[in-house]
Amino acid sequence: MKLLFTEKPIEKLEADAVAVGVFKGGRREALKGLSSILSNMNFKGKVGESVTIPWRGSYKNVIAVGLGEKGKLNEDRIRTAASKAVEEAKKLNAKRLVSQLFGEEKLKGRAAKAVAEGFLIGNYEFNRYRKERRKGVEEVLVSGSGNYRDSFELGKLLSEATNYTRDIVNEPGNVINPITLSEIACRLSEELGLECRVFDEKELEKEKMVGILSVGRGSKTPPRFVHIAYRPEGAERRVVIVGKGVTFDSGGLNVKPEQYMRKMKSDKAGACAVLGILMAVSRMKLNVEVHGLMPLAENMPDGKSFRPDDILTFRNGKSVEIHSTDAEGRLILADALIYGSELEPDLMVDMATLTGACVVALGNYTSGVFTEDEELSNSILRVSERTGEKMWRLPLDEDLEEDIKGNFSDLQNVGKTRYGGAITAALFLKSFVGKSVKSWAHIDIAGPAFLDKRWKYYSPGATGQPVRTMVELIKGLK
Ligand code: BES
Ligand code: MN
Ligand code: ZN
Repeated sequence: MKLLFTEKPIEKLEADAVAVGVFKGGRREALKGLSSILSNMNFKGKVGESVTIPWRGSYKNVIAVGLGEKGKLNEDRIRTAASKAVEEAKKLNAKRLVSQLFGEEKLKGRAAKAVAEGFLIGNYEFNRYRKERRKGVEEVLVSGSGNYRDSFELGKLLSEATNYTRDIVNEPGNVINPITLSEIACRLSEELGLECRVFDEKELEKEKMVGILSVGRGSKTPPRFVHIAYRPEGAERRVVIVGKGVTFDSGGLNVKPEQYMRKMKSDKAGACAVLGILMAVSRMKLNVEVHGLMPLAENMPDGKSFRPDDILTFRNGKSVEIHSTDAEGRLILADALIYGSELEPDLMVDMATLTGACVVALGNYTSGVFTEDEELSNSILRVSERTGEKMWRLPLDEDLEEDIKGNFSDLQNVGKTRYGGAITAALFLKSFVGKSVKSWAHIDIAGPAFLDKRWKYYSPGATGQPVRTMVELIKGLK
């Protein structure tokens, strides 16, 4: 689908359908006669409401989409409305859709950005394996003032990075494994002009990355570690982003029961987000050095698998007793966090589908944010309200540190009780963050990274979270 911005007024455009945003209780509509038709149809203008009306003249159809109360308009309501419009247009088999910007009187450029995101993120479906595919909308034209063009283009760029991430997360384990994912990372780096280094088993051995090696040992595809670097000249800040890349999580020898093993192809969502973020920051030419780290392994049961009771000694000297091979994410992340600390960043953020406990705590639609840096926490939460990628802070409760102290080792990879499981996992990660890191945050995306059913402007499957939030965070660094 092509998404284009135009300064031509909407009356001058022809299309199979025109999308019109309607406020709750709103009266004045751009198209003559529309208001009375809508009220006859009992259309209220609620968020997510939509209706298609056959029309005459230059548009064959009018698609009315609800924006909710005028005073409560925000980016997420605009995204939802735009995604509804494209959904209705698909049902109509419309090839060309035109739309006016929704809500720019109030939100200005933020509205233009949100409209672009709503159309592109809302139009996404993972359907490359389907024989019968719907044709889809070929072209969407959004009409608005030239002042908003840049914001619109930024919305497009962020959506493309999001959808790129979704495409990889949605690929199953028989297609994506540590090797194929490392190849994708290198191909992307080449396209973007970034440095890309891949560590194979020998190099992992040499660098003492025991977490990645152990978790990956049971798989027929060996593990990898990828380091991508974006180094613009004159950058004053250095950021390290780390993403959990378990290409499939069967649980390993502590094998998961069937209902929990389904959808574990999405356990690589953090690593795929690293790629989307790098795509966006380099295309935006942000003046920040960004290092993307992807520890990649497939967690499988096998005669060669690592096992419960194994004791691993990490590169920083800390020893960890394995209590469950299913708590594998924190092991591969530990290697990456040690490595990332050696880069002495101003900011390090890891993103991981780390714990079911985080989903128990916050539900499917909200990620957990862990950091000791109050200011960083505020920035992340503020940005996330804008992006609609919902996040909530959870505590790094030091009283729970006792829970991950090992009997025969410094640490164990699972808490002594199952209570506070998202927190003990985060505390485990914290102990691998070096003193050379000025500020660190961990984002547990186990809920929102992959959805079972349609939600707001997301089709079922991967969401590409938290790509947009991370890019905005990096953009806003002082
Ligand atoms: N990848 C899972 C966490 C997960 C669960 C992600 C649900 C997305 C949806 C992780 O590796 C895992 O298995 N965690 C265990 C930890 C436990 C063994 C301490 C869990 O959450 O049950
Ligand atoms: Mn697991
Ligand atoms: Zn996992």
